[in-house]
Amino acid sequence: MKPVKIGLCGLGTVGGGTFNVLRENAVEIAARAQAPLEISLVGARRDNPLCDLSTTRVTRDIFDVARDEDVDIVVELIGGTTVARELVETAIRNGKHIVTANKALIAEHGNEIFALAAEHGVAVRYEAAVAGGIPIIKALREGLAGNRIEWLAGIINGTGNFILSEMREHGREFSDVLAEAQALGYAEADPTFDVEGIDAAHKLVILASLAFGIPLQFESVYTEGITRLTPQDMDYAEELGYRVKHLGVAKQSDAGVELRVHPTLIPKERLLANVNGVKNAVLVEGSAVGPTLYYGAGAGAAPTASAVVADLVDLARDISAEQENRVPSLSVTDDALRDLPI
Ligand code: HSE
Repeated sequence: MKPVKIGLCGLGTVGGGTFNVLRENAVEIAARAQAPLEISLVGARRDNPLCDLSTTRVTRDIFDVARDEDVDIVVELIGGTTVARELVETAIRNGKHIVTANKALIAEHGNEIFALAAEHGVAVRYEAAVAGGIPIIKALREGLAGNRIEWLAGIINGTGNFILSEMREHGREFSDVLAEAQALGYAEADPTFDVEGIDAAHKLVILASLAFGIPLQFESVYTEGITRLTPQDMDYAEELGYRVKHLGVAKQSDAGVELRVHPTLIPKERLLANVNGVKNAVLVEGSAVGPTLYYGAGAGAAPTASAVVADLVDLARDISAEQENRVPSLSVTDDALRDLPI
């Protein structure tokens, strides 16, 4: 099997996690992708002490990765929207497929990036951009493809949910919990994105574009954060039988698709009210399937890397099928299926 060559840009929390997941789970990943996934080149301003780079080509100029002849898929994990956009567009123009975890980039420039990718016949995948390790993009794109989506609502910022949970459970102060979320690698480089609802708004427009088949429209989201909430607000809500959760909501209305992000009182016994810590959860109501719930880790190195690698496996399967002129098949080999105890 010919290896599929990966160019990894960014070796921070998510980049380092992706590097290590690709290495540690290489056998399983190769079986599912039907080709080995080889990290051909890493582009990063500095090394990550958690990654063994001794056998990997490394460049300090990420644009080398976008132009490298040996790279099939460029993984953009540098964050931000200016250099990241330039990098992704350069890679697309050089015929590379793209995998990114960058919700700001997709939410704000996705329409143009997708158009450019279509022009150059390459794919752009972004499962890791929303809800960390939860395969919510795949669920909307594939699992619920037979439904008309009525609405969706979710806790889609792990840092915000961690802060609210800690304030409620332990009466901790906002700034103290935010500092811990930063230390744990959950928060954005600019944490105002987390606490002012901007990160959730980015993710909401991505989900809405898939759910309702609409263009990405970040500027249409009503956005309110959690900075004015105090532990006392949590206590009062609790006394009245509610929990305060920061939600992203998208639903069809007569005026089009309504998009909003704000703190919400949820009755204590509801599922979303009991999603605590850095976890995310998204409820999606489909016309045929009814309500469905997706739950899991919403941030952090390994969960986000899990989603990045899922996209890589998907793309690699298509690339290797094309190279070998066979039809893309199941994600596990027949041998693996035979060994399952079912
Ligand atoms: N800062 C984000 C969060 C990271 O806390 O949810 C994952 O997108």
